[in-house]
Amino acid sequence: MSSSPNSNQSSSPPIARTSIIGTGTIGASWAALFLAHGLEVVLHDPGPDAEPFARAFITQAWPALVTLGIAQPEIPWHALRFKADLERAVADADLVQENAPEREAFKIDLYRQLDAAAPAHAILASSTSGLHMSRLQSQCAHPERCVIGHPFNPPHLIPLVEVVGGQHTSNETIERTMAFYRQVGKRPIRINKEVSGHVANRLQAAIWREAVYLAAQGVASVEDIDTAITEGPGVRWAIFGPHMTFNLGGGQGGMAHFLDHFSGPMKSWWDDLGEAPLDETTREILIRGLTEESRGRNIQALAQERDDMLLRVLEAKRGSHQ
Ligand SMILES: NC(=O)c1ccc[n+]([C@@H]2O[C@H](COP(=O)([O-])OP(=O)(O)OC[C@H]3O[C@@H](n4cnc5c(N)ncnc54)[C@H](O)[C@@H]3O)[C@@H](O)[C@H]2O)c1
Repeated sequence: MSSSPNSNQSSSPPIARTSIIGTGTIGASWAALFLAHGLEVVLHDPGPDAEPFARAFITQAWPALVTLGIAQPEIPWHALRFKADLERAVADADLVQENAPEREAFKIDLYRQLDAAAPAHAILASSTSGLHMSRLQSQCAHPERCVIGHPFNPPHLIPLVEVVGGQHTSNETIERTMAFYRQVGKRPIRINKEVSGHVANRLQAAIWREAVYLAAQGVASVEDIDTAITEGPGVRWAIFGPHMTFNLGGGQGGMAHFLDHFSGPMKSWWDDLGEAPLDETTREILIRGLTEESRGRNIQALAQERDDMLLRVLEAKRGSHQ
């Protein structure tokens, strides 16, 4: 990663004007958050129903942002504009948040166009879940201002954003991007190396690999494995992560004591972890188990239940940070 300062960025104005490129599930959610924080938002998406979709999404997302104390009751529609032309959409941007389809060749070319059209001081941030910035910035004349800001769905509610640069991203860009996400109430983490899935999705994948293995082996039901997380470690993980949780597990001696006592057992558990093939048999076990666990609730009802509780968890976490 380049550490050379970029003279265009050193005197950068504060970020007030944003452009959101691609306004599907993720882009529309970013738009709601940026509007709630009083920013100007220009949207660009060639999809035929993009504008009504984004307006409907923002309208539906707004009450939760008001409940969390982030937004005023009135949606500031005057701060939102749609532009059909990509170049015009980013011409005045301080920060571009890109959320277009997850295809590498397509995004490389999109980045080339964004880089050519956006002002020199603008940050070009991508929401990509799986692509590497070193590749996306490869056709840009100013790759130092290109960075990944990977959110969790929905970005207007989930605090985490993973920030990672490519080979040519400047430290200044990383720092300005982290500061911007803090400005809009996010909890950015800095990822120092490009790895597949960034950090949080790798952690989710590690847990789910073992959860699938345990279900496939018949060690416990799908529902009981889910309960083992939601009523156990999952409750603590919203407060302290796995490292700090085990630091407390060591009592007064902290992690040093924990390692003295649990290194042996932990190594034997690690050695025993498994991986089930995602074949037809495993598929049936998971689908049947989830049908039982759902107990007649359809996907919409389950999502509503999750979102209602999520809001209460977020309110509790916001309270603890004030
Ligand atoms: N869905 C998730 O859970 C999630 C979470 C984090 C990050 N992401 C990332 O966010 C990005 C977008 O994902 P999504 O789930 O919102 O996808 P989506 O399919 O809901 O939205 C993509 C949007 O891009 C638009 N689009 C197509 N061509 C375009 C172009 N040339 N210029 C601008 N927009 C164009 C489409 O019309 C569509 O509205 C991806 O990179 C994805 O990896 C997704």
